[in-house]
Amino acid sequence: IPVEPFDLVIFGGTGDLARRKILPGLFRRYCAGQIPADSQIIGAARSEHDATEFRAIVAEAIREFGGGKACEDGTLDEFLQRIDYVTVDARGDTGWSELASKVRKDLINAFYFSVGPGLFGDLAERLHRYDMADDDSRIVVEKPFGRDLATAKALNASLAKHFDETQIYRIDHYLGKETVQNLMAVRFGNMLFEPLWNSQYIDHIQISVAETVGVGGRGGYYDKSGAMRDMVQNHLMQLLCLIAMEPPAKFDPDAVRDEKLKVIRALDPVEPHHIVRGQYGPSADDDGFRTHVGDPASKTESFVAMKIAISNWRWAGTPFYLRTGKKLKARTSEITVVFKDAPHSIFGAEAGRHNNELRIRLQPNEGMTLDVTIKEPGQGGMRLVDVPLDMSFAEALGPNVAEVPDAYERLIMDVIRGNQTLFMRGDEVEAAWAWTDPIIEGWQARGEVPKTYDSGSDGPTDAMAMIARDGRIWREIKL
Ligand code: BG6
Repeated sequence: IPVEPFDLVIFGGTGDLARRKILPGLFRRYCAGQIPADSQIIGAARSEHDATEFRAIVAEAIREFGGGKACEDGTLDEFLQRIDYVTVDARGDTGWSELASKVRKDLINAFYFSVGPGLFGDLAERLHRYDMADDDSRIVVEKPFGRDLATAKALNASLAKHFDETQIYRIDHYLGKETVQNLMAVRFGNMLFEPLWNSQYIDHIQISVAETVGVGGRGGYYDKSGAMRDMVQNHLMQLLCLIAMEPPAKFDPDAVRDEKLKVIRALDPVEPHHIVRGQYGPSADDDGFRTHVGDPASKTESFVAMKIAISNWRWAGTPFYLRTGKKLKARTSEITVVFKDAPHSIFGAEAGRHNNELRIRLQPNEGMTLDVTIKEPGQGGMRLVDVPLDMSFAEALGPNVAEVPDAYERLIMDVIRGNQTLFMRGDEVEAAWAWTDPIIEGWQARGEVPKTYDSGSDGPTDAMAMIARDGRIWREIKL
């Protein structure tokens, strides 16, 4: 279904995120017929370009980062006609009157701040000063949304001066992933799981987001951030919320975000011995983390594993184990819900101990596996074995299912539709920092150095030891 016609301004329009995700994503939505022809996309950045030069940048980005299968020849030229460019100085006055004259007020207006958070306040203030901040205009901001509670509060305050919370769209691209939304569909669209979704039946839950890439060209940013700020405070926190929250009364922005916020507020502080930090060392084909970030003594973590407790009726007594890291064995994100053993085994000790496990694969090969216990075939008496009921979503839905939009495509269209369900609210972000801050401050106060781990491994062995102390094991990181 096409959205209403809109004017979208992308500040930082020539930057990495715009070229890799936003512009190719918009083009794919255009090809899918979702963007009306009279919409306009205006790149705005400090660099001097005219519209023709910027269109060439956009065309190149689309060629490099993918146009998608629905795009026919000739559509690119049509799309490029919708593109304009203004040279703008975020901290000065250059370009702002010109930009204001191009944005058509009778359409939906959205302003994407694809720039560092240091400019959020300046942009918001100028949008207001140049009369572009109407009651219905929307602003989109990206992570990092602060680096602690104090900076996040300051950012929220600088945006709140000129925009209402209902106009602010804070992106966490994990919420735009199809399978992350599926977590809600699986939990709240089925009768099967929800009655068992509590500490009475669930032994523990594991959330693993493993990457094979290292810090790449982002060493400067990453060394000041680390896995805790880069991944746990936002992406893993969102996954945790969707897995742990109470059923919202309806699928609407505030109902969903209220429930997520309650989860974050119910998190216990994390004990130091319930966290393991790691840093990948040098390997045969790689110089290692410290070289990548340019600091031979860096104490920043590229891996973190932790045990989390949620203090509420549903989850008291069921630990959540979270883990994420770079340069691990495989790129895979998976949630495993490990159910308790049956209370009594009628088959005797020799049948072994068995339990059900629900594994939800978020990426790649999205799908679900449920391990069920059955009789081992054959004549050898009543011996039990666990077998997977395996469902690949792609296989089950068949080849005719519509191309799944990338997270950014989906989220940008939600901005235009004015739907905030998959965006973080200010209080949610602040609550997540309030929980994260003491953990990071503790590491700093103790001068903690992360454990070194090998590239291509499961992370530091201490992470295995941490969960083993509870008599549990991490599920294997594999494709
Ligand atoms: C980003 C982090 O937010 O998410 C990166 O800054 C990380 O460090 C990326 O690599 C992971 O996203 P995805 O979609 O590849 O799982």
